[in-house]
Amino acid sequence: MIQIPHGQAVPALGQGTWKMGERAARAAEEAAVLRLGIELGLTLIDTAEIYASGGAERVVAQAIAGQREKVFLVSKVAPQNASAAGTIRACEASLRRLGTEVLDLYLLHWPGAHPFRETLAGFEKLIAQGKIRHWGVSNFDPQAMREIFALPAGTACATNQVLYHPDARGVEFDLLPWSRAHAMPIMAYSPLGQGGRLLRSRALAQVAERHNATPAQIALAWSLRDGNTISIPKTANPERLRENAGALEIRLSAEDLAVIDAAHKPPARKQALEML
Ligand SMILES: NC(=O)c1ccc[n+]([C@@H]2O[C@H](COP(=O)([O-])OP(=O)(O)OC[C@H]3O[C@@H](n4cnc5c(N)ncnc54)[C@H](OP(=O)(O)O)[C@@H]3O)[C@@H](O)[C@H]2O)c1
Repeated sequence: MIQIPHGQAVPALGQGTWKMGERAARAAEEAAVLRLGIELGLTLIDTAEIYASGGAERVVAQAIAGQREKVFLVSKVAPQNASAAGTIRACEASLRRLGTEVLDLYLLHWPGAHPFRETLAGFEKLIAQGKIRHWGVSNFDPQAMREIFALPAGTACATNQVLYHPDARGVEFDLLPWSRAHAMPIMAYSPLGQGGRLLRSRALAQVAERHNATPAQIALAWSLRDGNTISIPKTANPERLRENAGALEIRLSAEDLAVIDAAHKPPARKQALEML
């Protein structure tokens, strides 16, 4: 479990939903995998209004029906909607699609044209109305984080959801130390590198062999290794879901981490924040 600022402890390993809800014929299957995940303790579910134009939120609605209280539900407002009034409207539409009255965490998906103070005013009103419990951001670099924290009530920001996996480590140079210094966990998205080249890494395979595990499990254990990061892999496959949940049992040793560092180098200098 990971402690969020001004809030409760949330599960370190959650479930992503990008690409869910794109095909009606698969929705029931996708919802069933999310339900299995909830049973296995992956009770943090991450979605967004833009995923499948609301379709992913509808899949999540099917998954959480009758068990809303078991889930820590995260959704996101798209930057073009993130004026004070637009944030409230977008949240209300998400709540309707999700079939719930409250979001546990509502994030600004990435910085856009609306000033942060406007979006924050929308978030605060939503909290006052009981429609969200916490707010946070996504794809914010250290400069944008400093701007948020400089606003009145800005320090209530619960998390910053960013791209983070062994082939995308730029955040380790500045954003992670900044977040640690402000006692704010980050949420790692695409922790499996979207299931592509990363999972064919020889270093991950070598470490996986030592643990009798899979490269995907090692990638997830790596993302969780500091005890202060939430990781939200996505799968719509029940076998992979069980596999991913197994990552919680794996503790990487200093030797394992050295093998991964040698092949997937930590950043030596500041890099622009990578995002998808
Ligand atoms: N804030 C943002 O801007 C942002 C951006 C990107 C993502 N996100 C969030 O983060 C979540 C995760 O990121 P992501 O979906 O981009 O990528 P990811 O979780 O790194 O990878 C998902 C891909 O990996 C496959 N996969 C899952 N488990 C696997 C396993 N054990 N072995 C092999 N392949 C596996 C999945 O396919 P199957 O489904 O077929 O298993 C899917 O194609 C998203 O779903 C979304 O909720 C947020």
